[in-house]
Amino acid sequence: MNGLIEVGFMPKELRTVFWKRNQVRLIDQRKLPFKLSYISCNSYRDVAFAIKNMAVRGAPAIGVAAAMGMALAAKSGKNKTVEKLMLELEKAKKVLASTRPTAINLYWALERVMKVAREAAKSGNVEHVISSVLEEAKKMADEDVEVNRAIGRQGSTIIKDGDTILTHCNAGSLATVGYGTALGVIRAAFEDGKSISVIATETRPKLQGARLTAFELKMMGVPFKLITDGMVGYVMQQGLVSKVVVGADRILARSGHIVNKIGTLTIAISAKHFGIPLYIAAPTSTIDFESRPEDVVIEFRDEDEVHYVGRTRITPKGVKTINPAFDMTPPELVTAVITEKGIYEPHRLMELYRSITSQ
Ligand code: MRU
Repeated sequence: MNGLIEVGFMPKELRTVFWKRNQVRLIDQRKLPFKLSYISCNSYRDVAFAIKNMAVRGAPAIGVAAAMGMALAAKSGKNKTVEKLMLELEKAKKVLASTRPTAINLYWALERVMKVAREAAKSGNVEHVISSVLEEAKKMADEDVEVNRAIGRQGSTIIKDGDTILTHCNAGSLATVGYGTALGVIRAAFEDGKSISVIATETRPKLQGARLTAFELKMMGVPFKLITDGMVGYVMQQGLVSKVVVGADRILARSGHIVNKIGTLTIAISAKHFGIPLYIAAPTSTIDFESRPEDVVIEFRDEDEVHYVGRTRITPKGVKTINPAFDMTPPELVTAVITEKGIYEPHRLMELYRSITSQ
């Protein structure tokens, strides 16, 4: 860790997850902003480990990483019959699904790969199943970038010249395969020539805002300021925020609730109080058309994430903490959800389901 990476040495585009030489390569987000390095995963267990310890994080990114983990499971070479291969895939799916419970993209991606595998298995040909799983995982990665660009195009329409947009956590290229969702909206508006600026929250305890969003905004050249999470009310009260745009880990279409990084609920309550519109930018793969709020499992992470900042312990010995990674924002605090298929008020999300299923 020897200082910040200068933007001049950076690639133009970040690709968070990709397949190369029979390995899954992931940007190691734990090292950012100090070092841009990659992890090579040789097995689905390596991918599961990377998701669990947040080397890769962000709902769409973990979905695609898991899909590529399934391709590693398929290619492991030890399954000589289609039956054995399908059992191996079911095992890999279980392990990958157990890594992080809240973001729906993980389950969506695993189910999509399994559907393709089951269909290919009808051929009775092991090689056909393997290549179908790998092709699907690669397709999902490419689709993710395209979908994010479409979210950006939709979202840019609600951003005006002179807006200052508050964003939380990291919903950028690093949280996806590339381009980003909430940061994708900001990026598209900036690329459209709008004069905008951003306020990014640091996002304790994992500091995705301070480490990752600040890194990405710097790369993009978008003017921004960083605040600590406790400053949100102040900047809103001072009239420094025109809009809030954040991502989501799960959107409950039936009720309109938004599950996102811990702190989103507090931001939404403040935004409502000060009359500031709050938008959620997310792909339709983040929408859960089945669950009710009580069905959602909120991930609780290790207490040490609260006890420590980096490697420095900041709490007295014996202190107990509460460390939920996500919270749930009710629909009355949300102006609209920006998806690749259009912009929907939360109570209209089931219409999206009907339009998707009728296609
Ligand atoms: O715990 P993380 O870093 O995986 O949480 C990420 C978030 O909450 C993001 O806001 C969300 O996944 C949207 S990312 C496009």
